[in-house]
Amino acid sequence: MRKHLVDLTVKEVTWLNEKYALMKLTDTHPLPEMLPGQFVEVRVDHSSQTMLRRPISIHFVDREHNELWLLVAVVGDGTHTITHTPVGGVLNCMLSLGNGFTLPTNEGQRWLLTGGGVGVAPLLYLGAEMKKRGIEPTFLLGARKASDLLQLQEFEKYGRVLVTTEDGSAGEKGFVTNHSVLDEHFDHISCCGPLPMMKAVARYAAQHHIACEVSLENQMACGIGACLCCVEKTQEGNVCVCKEGPVFDINRLTWQN
Ligand code: FES
Repeated sequence: MRKHLVDLTVKEVTWLNEKYALMKLTDTHPLPEMLPGQFVEVRVDHSSQTMLRRPISIHFVDREHNELWLLVAVVGDGTHTITHTPVGGVLNCMLSLGNGFTLPTNEGQRWLLTGGGVGVAPLLYLGAEMKKRGIEPTFLLGARKASDLLQLQEFEKYGRVLVTTEDGSAGEKGFVTNHSVLDEHFDHISCCGPLPMMKAVARYAAQHHIACEVSLENQMACGIGACLCCVEKTQEGNVCVCKEGPVFDINRLTWQN
């Protein structure tokens, strides 16, 4: 897929809690094609500390309003600067990068989309594209506490939403891999979140012979396969997550070795 370098205008910034901002970006031209699971490299302007672009996953693409939604966790100077770009300001974005999640081809299949923390971001667009194809997925979303659960009302538009919290303040107490919905049968799991969570989900999927894809969040810089800082060991050798991923079938990874 062709890559684009575009100046997108900040249309709206909504703080979902003290750490996470939902940014809606737009352009005067129709936004380029984007797949669920792909990401954007955002240039950090007006910062003396951050030279490199920041990789941010595509949260949603609203074609009707020509908006790209990014769910940004503020973890340092780069993301702080990006999220404090004023409405009307411009963010230079390289997109659409990486591969994407597999989409269902068979309407009878049951798909589980699970994520934790800001890792839930790409699952909204994925769920929306699934619903377009006639499949309502089950979202299983985990967080430390209720106030860290993000965008639940948006997820509810596209499927069944179940949650876990580590402190029990919402949904079932514990981790996503403890949730009772896992007693049900699923044909496919798509997962994104902290590494220990993804490994636990991959273990569960392998044990139950369920097809499973995970979206890796390795450290990235260039986003286009040039700097080699995002390398992941796979069954076929080392690959750049930014180019070959970020989405991988768990059977390609060496986690189960
Ligand atoms: Fe540079 Fe992947 S981020 S090679």
